[in-house]
Amino acid sequence: MHTPSRAADSPVSSVSLDLEREASLREFNTFGLPATAKTLVHVHSEADVKRVVNDPELGRAPKFILGGGSNLVLTQDVDRCVLKMEIKGRRLLETRDDAWIVEVGAGESWHETVAWCLDNGLPGLENMALIPGTVGASPVQNIGAYGVELKDRFESLDAVDLITGRTVTLTAAQCRFGYRDSIFKQALAGKSVITTVRLRLPRPWQPVLGYLELERKMAETGITAPDARQIFDWVCEVRRAKLPDPAVIGNSGSFFKNPVVTAEQCRDIIGRDPHVVHYPLEDGTFKLAAGWLIDACGWKGKSIGRAGVYERQALVLVNRGGASGAEVVTLARAIQESVYGRFGIRLEPEPVVI
Ligand code: EPU
Repeated sequence: MHTPSRAADSPVSSVSLDLEREASLREFNTFGLPATAKTLVHVHSEADVKRVVNDPELGRAPKFILGGGSNLVLTQDVDRCVLKMEIKGRRLLETRDDAWIVEVGAGESWHETVAWCLDNGLPGLENMALIPGTVGASPVQNIGAYGVELKDRFESLDAVDLITGRTVTLTAAQCRFGYRDSIFKQALAGKSVITTVRLRLPRPWQPVLGYLELERKMAETGITAPDARQIFDWVCEVRRAKLPDPAVIGNSGSFFKNPVVTAEQCRDIIGRDPHVVHYPLEDGTFKLAAGWLIDACGWKGKSIGRAGVYERQALVLVNRGGASGAEVVTLARAIQESVYGRFGIRLEPEPVVI
């Protein structure tokens, strides 16, 4: 049920907002967890964000920005005013000598955008195929897969300040991208909302094939110079084989970040567990595979209540049917404790827990 709200004291607010009260969030989070939002606004345009900011009631309320709900664990009802980002639109904005610039509305599906770009002769995003969520959420945690991160394909974004209602354009440097991190998880968390993202796809296109699973596909098929469509298909195959489809089994992708440890810590762990999967980073530290650590603690396929560890990938927690957010959190804590007990490493969750 959509109840229109009117705020007549400002020119931009004179058009009604697409607003619901006591809205179920179950279908809006990929874990399929039950929770209700006191107020939920379907945001269809940048002007809608400004209407919310200028609304006498909504303007003052704390906000929660909801994209595809693919990085979210809901343990309780949400009192904050939920802005569900549904801004649509995709276009080739500019063709430069060294890049195509594609402009996309925050509410577009990320995966469909990757496919749309390929269909329109704009390669470059194929390694990030099938990442769940929306385009507007992609810079927040600097999504990445198979050797490419959003920051490698990013031009700029527009965001609206939730206090002033002003639009700002941020460059990659201003977004302060890090591993699964950006200014939107730090200083700007809850303070501004991304409405438009501009992607930068380098010309000429060059494949990124360094990732083990893609090398394996090349060896298996004998295709040594795959085009972007081929890489897209391989990435989809690899992901489908080991990551559950949220439409079938509720989940939020990787539940923990891969921990980064010092060379000394890494040596110590290798001394005890020679098989630990580790990757050297440029600054001399090492990234450990959280999935391997969890697997080594015997969690793969296990459950606590109706929350479980996916059979084919220990880094993914799943809703086995009817789980609550509390059950997911209980399972996550138990995993953290056993990984800490065995390896002395504290795993950090990737999704936002409310
Ligand atoms: N491993 C195990 N057991 C497991 C899972 C993994 O031993 O149950 C080992 C694997 O054999 C492999 C290593 O751990 O050697 C790494 O595993 P994998 O490549 O499956 O995952 P990852 O590299 O840790 C990251 C991202 C994924 C992204 C893939 C591909 C994080 C937290 N996850 O996973 O991102 O798709 O690389 O690039 O950085 C996401 O963030 O939601 C996500 C799916």
